[in-house]
This record gives sequence, C-alpha cells and structure tokens, in this order.
Amino acid sequence: MDLRLRGKRALVTGSSRGIGRAIALSLADFGVDVAINYLRGRQRAEETVREISGRGVRSLLVKGNVANAEHVAQIFDTIDRSWGGLEIVVSNAASGVLKSAKELTVHHFDWAMHINAAALLPITQSFLGLESKGEKSLVAVSSLGAVRAIPNYTAVGASKAALESMVRHLAAELAPEGLRINAVSAGTVDTDALLHFPNREDLLEAARRRTPAGRLLTPQDVANTVIYLCTEYASMIHGQTIIVDGGYSILA
Ligand SMILES: NC(=O)c1ccc[n+]([C@@H]2O[C@H](COP(=O)([O-])OP(=O)(O)OC[C@H]3O[C@@H](n4cnc5c(N)ncnc54)[C@H](OP(=O)(O)O)[C@@H]3O)[C@@H](O)[C@H]2O)c1
Repeated sequence: MDLRLRGKRALVTGSSRGIGRAIALSLADFGVDVAINYLRGRQRAEETVREISGRGVRSLLVKGNVANAEHVAQIFDTIDRSWGGLEIVVSNAASGVLKSAKELTVHHFDWAMHINAAALLPITQSFLGLESKGEKSLVAVSSLGAVRAIPNYTAVGASKAALESMVRHLAAELAPEGLRINAVSAGTVDTDALLHFPNREDLLEAARRRTPAGRLLTPQDVANTVIYLCTEYASMIHGQTIIVDGGYSILA
C-alpha cells in the first residue's frame, strides 16, 4: 500500500513503548523518518530507535518532558538541526494520577492537565516554526475517558476532554497556516499504562466482553488510524476526534 508518506519526517512523543511505539514503527514502515521521544526509559527508547533504523529510514532519540516548554523547544531544535524540517507530529505522551474523587488533589489534577492537555500548546507552536515539504499534520492521542466516566479517571478524563477541545480550536485557527490537527480517541489497550490502574483486570474484562468487534484493541489498531490522518487522503479532515474502540462506545 502506498500512502504517499515516503520521505516525510515525524516526531512521536512518548514513543519508546506502547501505542506511541506502534505509531512510530508504522510510520517507519511507510518510509517516514521518525524522532523517538521519551522521558525516563532510555533503554526501550534506544531499542525503538534501532528498530526504526532497521526499516531503512532515519531515526533520532529526543529525550524530554513534554510538560516542560523548554524541553519541547529543545526537542524541536534538535530535529531542525538534524533534519531541517518536519511534516508530522503525533502528540501521544501522557501521564496522570488514577485516584478516587476523595483522594484526588488539585495538584494531581494540574499534573494531568499539564502533560496531557497544556503540552499541546508549545508542541504546536514549535511545530509551526519548522520548515516542511507541503502540509503539516498533527495528531493528538486521546481516550474515551474524555466523554465517558471511568472509575478513578477524573483528572485524566478531564485533561483528555481539554485536549480534544484544544484540537478543535487550534485546528480552526491554524488550518490557514497549513497545519492540520486532529485527535484519535482510543478504547482500552493493554499497555504498561494499564498497570497503574487498580481495576486493570475489570477494564480488560469489560473491553473483551462488551466490544462489538469481538476482541481487544491493540496498539496497532490505534496506529492505523493515526497513520491515515497523517496522509493526504485525510486532507479535508480538520479538528476531529476519531474514535477507535471496536464499537465499545456506541453501546448503551
Ligand atoms: N492504554 C490505553 O488503554 C489507552 C487508551 C486510550 C488512550 N490512550 C492514550 O494513548 C497514549 C499512549 O498510551 P500508552 O498506553 O501507550 O502509554 P504507556 O505505555 O504508559 O507509554 C507512555 C509513553 O509516554 C512517555 N512519557 C510519559 N510521560 C512523558 C512526558 N512527560 N514527556 C515525554 N514522554 C513521556 C513514556 O516514556 P518513558 O517510559 O521514558 O517515561 C512512554 O514512552 C496516551 O496519550 C494515552 O492516554 C491509552
């Protein structure tokens, strides 16, 4: 399949493992150079870089906290000096505190908001400053918790709702500047992130039982839709949140 992505350059935040890694490897499979961002797990990030390079495209390791605007500026600066431009950014890195309403503090709430929503601002601004060959595409990774109530998910859910709103506002404002922005909202995927959920087994069991498509969602399922949004075939999709959940959220 030729998606006409060959030769483009991409940054995927939080791509050392999980869904971000699947997105990065898929982009590489379509001939895209990919910069791998991580925060703490250098070894896994280096493994992903090696896998990308093994696919015959360029890869770059860019460590940094997306919640720190200076780190974001450095990440984009490194990419600019190495590659001279960028066509694709996938804002995937996320974190958050999973606590009941009684335990959750404003500090926890701010933490999730900062990493999962506010970080999109410096990322978008830095992306705007780089050269590109043609249109730029930015895809943010969201979750069903933006619009549905999931136990212990108040802070992360609210941050993802803010993220989806930012995607709409930024998309409307920046389309005239050649930047196309969308989000992909995923159902439950069994990554390391789920290890932090006190109710991990219940979430997976509910997803297995209730998903009309009959199986659990994989990182690759999410990556496939992200990739599509990065292509010129999606050139008139602006400011949307596309749900990838095997039909889970359409059930009453
Ligand atoms: N798993 C799910 O069920 C699910 C469902 C819906 C949506 N999502 C969304 O999908 C995305 C990826 O989730 P995942 O499950 O793949 O997560 P994950 O396995 O926990 O991986 C998180 C990645 O983000 C990086 N990261 C964390 N905080 C960072 C920061 N402040 N700055 C830079 N990098 C940071 C991590 O790097 P280090 O290891 O180096 O810290 C890692 O590469 C997130 O946006 C998440 O909300 C996940």
